Amino acid sequence: MAFSKISPIEFSQTIHKMDGISPKTVEEHLKLYTGYVNKYNEINEKLSALTDEDYMKANQIYSVVRELKVELSFAWGGVINHELYFSRLGGKGGTPEGALLQQIEKDFGSFESFQKDLKASAIAARGWVWTAWNFHENRLINYVGDSQNTFLVWGVEPLLALDTYEHAYFIDFGANRGAYIDAFMNNLDWKVVEDHFMEIGGCCGEGECCGGSCHK
Ligand SMILES: [Fe+2]
Repeated sequence: MAFSKISPIEFSQTIHKMDGISPKTVEEHLKLYTGYVNKYNEINEKLSALTDEDYMKANQIYSVVRELKVELSFAWGGVINHELYFSRLGGKGGTPEGALLQQIEKDFGSFESFQKDLKASAIAARGWVWTAWNFHENRLINYVGDSQNTFLVWGVEPLLALDTYEHAYFIDFGANRGAYIDAFMNNLDWKVVEDHFMEIGGCCGEGECCGGSCHK
C-alpha cells in the first residue's frame, strides 16, 4: 500500500506566550503531538509491508492486521486532534463573530450557554471534546471522546478541539481542570474557527446553508 510520510505542522508562535497555559506545558505537549506524527508514519510503513501471510492470519482476537488497523486510527486521531487544538490557540479569547456566532446562538441559545455546554462536556470527557458541524442536522454539537479515536461520529466536521488529558493542564493547574478549560477559552483564536466554519459552508439564520457566506 503506497503512502507518503506526514510531518508535524508549524503553529503560531503565540501559543508559547499564552495566559495560564505555560510555555513548558506547550513545549511538552508538542512533543506528544510529534510522537503521534512519528507513530502514524511507522504504522503506515508496517501496513505497506504486510505480507500475504499477515493477511491470511487476520484475526479479531489478535493479529498484526488488527493491531495496525486499530492503532492507525488512534495515531491519526492524535495527529488531527492536536492540530485542531494548537491551531486554535494563541488568540485573545472573547467571543466569535459573524455567521459562527449566529449559529452558536441558534443552536445553544447564547454564547454563554455554548460555553456552559462545552465546559461541562470537557469536565465529563476522558480525552477530548469537539465542537463540530453536523451536516445532516445542520447544527453545531459538542461531542465527547474518551480517547483519540473513540465515539467517532459520521457526517460531522470538527471545528474546535479541547484536549482534556491531564498532560494538557497538570503542570499549570494540577487537578483543577475547570480552571484549565477557562484558560483554554481565554486563549482561543476565534477567527480561525470562524474561517473554518465559512470554508465548509456552515449554515446560518434559519438553517439555510450558505456555502461560505451568510445570506440572512
Ligand atoms: Fe494532548
